[in-house]
Amino acid sequence: MKIALASDHGGFELKEAIKKHLTEDRKIEVLDLGTDSTASVDYPVYGHKAAHAVADGEADLGIVCCGTGIGISMAANKVKGIRCALCTNEYMAEFTKRHNNANMLAFGGRTTTPDLANRMVDIWLDTEYEGGRHQRRVDQIEE
Ligand code: RB5
Repeated sequence: MKIALASDHGGFELKEAIKKHLTEDRKIEVLDLGTDSTASVDYPVYGHKAAHAVADGEADLGIVCCGTGIGISMAANKVKGIRCALCTNEYMAEFTKRHNNANMLAFGGRTTTPDLANRMVDIWLDTEYEGGRHQRRVDQIEE
């Protein structure tokens, strides 16, 4: 299992906190696609990088962060095959796996604490996709 991580400057510190949690607490390999500081950069560049890593099979899943999580999730969702869910609470993190089989999560570094983001990451990773009637709807997204 490998998870692609990317952020702009607004999500940099949250990305670093998620990277620490994934690598140290969960022993999951990460593919860190930047950015690597709080210097200003453009979030679409990083959203696309992580989304292409997932869509092309370089990583199994992806997590992206910007100031709000909004712009970078919009960018990621432009890549075919990506279902990137902007989550702000545990219920959303659980149900975006159960029902949408989200292959990427997005968070806001200015709206979500590292503790909450890491709890949402854990829930998303530990929840099973339900399939069944939800697969028809996921297929409709792809079509
Ligand atoms: C950057 O200031 C900010 O616009 C960006 O991080 C993000 O919040 C966009 O949606």
